[in-house]
Amino acid sequence: MGQISRRTILAGAAAAVALGRPAIAQAAPLKVGMMLPFSGTYAALGENIASAFELLIAENGGKLAGRPVTLIRLDDESDPAKAPANVNRLTERDNVDVLLGTVHSGVVMALVQAAREKQIPLFIPNAGNVAATRELCSPSVFRSSFSNWQPAYGMGRALATRGVKKAAWVTWDYAAGKESGEGFRDGLRAGGAEMTHQLTVPFPETNFQPILAQISGLGVEAVGSFFAGGGAIQFVKDYAAAGLRDKVQLCGSGFLTEGVLKPQGAAAEGILTALHYGDGLDNAKNLAFRAVFKAKTGRDADVYAVQGYDAGQMLLAGLVAAKGDAAAVQALAAGIRAAKIDSPRGAFTLSASHNPVQTIWLRQAKDGQNKVIGAAVEALADPGAGCKMAGA
Ligand code: PHB
Repeated sequence: MGQISRRTILAGAAAAVALGRPAIAQAAPLKVGMMLPFSGTYAALGENIASAFELLIAENGGKLAGRPVTLIRLDDESDPAKAPANVNRLTERDNVDVLLGTVHSGVVMALVQAAREKQIPLFIPNAGNVAATRELCSPSVFRSSFSNWQPAYGMGRALATRGVKKAAWVTWDYAAGKESGEGFRDGLRAGGAEMTHQLTVPFPETNFQPILAQISGLGVEAVGSFFAGGGAIQFVKDYAAAGLRDKVQLCGSGFLTEGVLKPQGAAAEGILTALHYGDGLDNAKNLAFRAVFKAKTGRDADVYAVQGYDAGQMLLAGLVAAKGDAAAVQALAAGIRAAKIDSPRGAFTLSASHNPVQTIWLRQAKDGQNKVIGAAVEALADPGAGCKMAGA
């Protein structure tokens, strides 16, 4: 090491001590706690998020803003009852600097609470729980994915545009499904159509027969739905097996067919979905990302991988602005708010409540792909109602 750089470091250390902050910022490992589902119905979603986040770190030589990154994986099993204890393990036992998580809207609440109370930056790479970027918004909470309202709103709007007047919503009975239903209803209404029924199944149950038996009698032209992962595979197959596929158009938030088209097979053909991502998006970033992700993991990228990768890009932008100090939440937040994230979905910025402003694409499942057939809504922001934060 040359004289100048050593002197610079000593000066930096002296300045940090003067500020009352230990001079660890530059070289000490940055501990990231990855709390994701690695088992259960959402296991594949968690794996793709983790792999893509790791890919972003590897592309940066294992470091973010000069700090080597240490990753700690914790399987949250998509179980809200275990969430507070799991978060506590990461924040108290492992002393993480940054939290990454999670997929399930119920589980994410424990992470949001810890991020708010302990001022630990949290990056949400999936869970759409609207409260995280509405009434519980915080300078330390950032979402790289979507609010539950966004894709379903796009789906409702697209159906109304196509002339549908009445539709039903079918979902697992928990926050993600209910909030998506509100988006679907709002989207239909904005186009002069109506959501007439909502049918639910407890999460993560996959006995769909009782609701499938009711659909023909509802008098609706379309069924919108929220299911994902293993449950989405089963629902799509059961819908076709019940003879409904050619009778009542099946559609939904894009998770219904995301990352699961292969096992769904012919049963998925023709399903309409709306999402902030699609297989055919042919921007250069997406093509490069899909190739590198496939080479690294042997799997195809999907929206979950994109969200994991973008969580990494957001963390990097924030850390650079905060000069590697994850505890400097205001500086970190300023860096992320100012950033334009070069995402495989297309570049996006965050809304004032830290949720992506993004185009929701209309897609149709065809030959094993979620083909983009148009924009359902361009540059859609979550309403962010109730967010009280400086600048929001
Ligand atoms: C959620 O619980 O917020 C959730 C889970 C899986 C998805 C999307 C949203 O694919």
